[in-house]
Amino acid sequence: MAPLSLKRDLAGLARLALLASCLSAAVALAQERVRLPAGNGQAQAAHAADDRLARARLIARGEDLFFNETFNGNGRTCGTCHPVENNFTLDPAFIATLKRNDPLFVAERNPALADLENPRLLRAFGLIREHVDGFQNPGVLRGVPHVLSLSTSVASFSGPQTGWSGDGAPGDRSLRSFTTGAVIQHFTKTLQRVPGVDFRLPTEVELDALLAFQLSLGRQSDPVLPLALKGAVPRRGQDIFLDDTLGKCNLCHVNAGANATLGAGNLGNIRVDIGVEALLDPPAGLTGEAVPPDGGFGAIPNPIPQLGFGDGSFNIPPLVEAADTPPFFHNNAIATLEGAVAFYTSDAFNNSPGARQIGGGIRLDTTQVEAVAAFLRVINALENIDGAIRLQRSAVRSRNAARRARFVARSAGEIEDAIEVLAGAGLHPDAVTLLDKARSSLTGCEPCSNKAIRKAIRRERTARGRIAG
Ligand code: HEC
Ligand code: HEC
Repeated sequence: MAPLSLKRDLAGLARLALLASCLSAAVALAQERVRLPAGNGQAQAAHAADDRLARARLIARGEDLFFNETFNGNGRTCGTCHPVENNFTLDPAFIATLKRNDPLFVAERNPALADLENPRLLRAFGLIREHVDGFQNPGVLRGVPHVLSLSTSVASFSGPQTGWSGDGAPGDRSLRSFTTGAVIQHFTKTLQRVPGVDFRLPTEVELDALLAFQLSLGRQSDPVLPLALKGAVPRRGQDIFLDDTLGKCNLCHVNAGANATLGAGNLGNIRVDIGVEALLDPPAGLTGEAVPPDGGFGAIPNPIPQLGFGDGSFNIPPLVEAADTPPFFHNNAIATLEGAVAFYTSDAFNNSPGARQIGGGIRLDTTQVEAVAAFLRVINALENIDGAIRLQRSAVRSRNAARRARFVARSAGEIEDAIEVLAGAGLHPDAVTLLDKARSSLTGCEPCSNKAIRKAIRRERTARGRIAG
């Protein structure tokens, strides 16, 4: 594992690189438009280019809002909890690198906001208070989901299911409206939450821009499984994942994404009660702090009062990004990916309604649990490598030195993630060595020449070739 300091150095650069990537897309589109030859039949092409340019501008605007706009509130931005340098999510290790005056910690400093969060559980487990059942009811404590590949999950068929339980957004429950809910929930100056006093509500244009930006993040499609994996263990993990009578994972996470079939055709991004709340000894509870029950979807009190408000269901998250976005599940109950896979062999899962929906529980041996986790690590690393190469290609194309440097820095962050998820389980050590060389050739060469960047790309491609064909 690489020292945290490297991650921190990359952090600011990574954020700028992302902005640069959107802006450069806008610039490239503008150039493309200028180059379009005039004449018959060109009108449609010009129109399409106009559309793309407008979209690129909207995304760039959304990005600026996401990381910088406080909506006249308590100082938080969307990026406070969804930081680009930590894959748009929070975990205790990242939280520990933040300064005391970071707006994430407003509840520690401002007495008017003392009950906005449980500061101890925020720092120890990355848990955030969410009043998903209305502000009159007690809030629940939830982890921060990454906002990557939303176009394959929340915006998929049968959506929108926003938030862990699919009921986070006010009004029409859409991803667009979710922003308004996030501002009222997280940005307020006092717990009165009066619009125009404690914060300002986002405008329609801002909602459009933030939606466009969020939908542009991460993968735009799911991988098509099975992949031609080289490692025997991840390959076996993939087989188990896809086997509808053994691992059964693909019944709910089709192609390691967020859409389900339950064996009955494409159902899209649905909610299921898989029993996470029934786990014994969830870590937050061990602190002695009050942890309210989380009833999942719906605001109606569960007939069993200990189950809180809701019907117990949570919506299915995508898995390609899982390995580098721990901890796992809506309550961050599980710290490791291996633990998250092992959950499916627990009584909590096997006695759940979700287990019944897939024709009975899941039994896996420990080796099989590790194999499935190895598979999830490998698909995450492949996504990291592809992302790094995309950024490096943009760097080679870019004529602006500063922008180029930021692309390079961000790509190094992706490689860093790939190394962490593979090395974390001793997978593909040969590929890890190559990735490490690719990364060091990029971190020591500022300003990196095209030759150095291309060398890194070659090493990454070779590394990729050791993992999958
Ligand atoms: C204080 C931390 C915090 C801040 C600030 C914050 N979020 Fe979140 N975000 C969360 C948590 C926690 C959840 C899970 C909520 C739930 O389950 O209902 C979440 C969920 C989401 C989701 C749902 C993702 C999914 O897969 O369903 C989106 C989208 C999102 N946030 C966007 C935003 C936007 C846009 C902003 C800024 C306006 C923002 N968030 C500000 C903590 C935060
Ligand atoms: C019946 C549907 C269903 C099946 C089968 C299923 N999952 Fe899930 N999975 C879910 C739901 C729903 C969640 C979110 C639950 C929550 O947070 O309470 C989830 C969450 C996860 C998470 C945590 C993701 C994160 O970002 O926190 C992982 C990892 C995961 N599943 C892996 C698997 C694996 C591996 C298998 C097969 C062994 C599997 N799942 C089978 C429905 C299912």
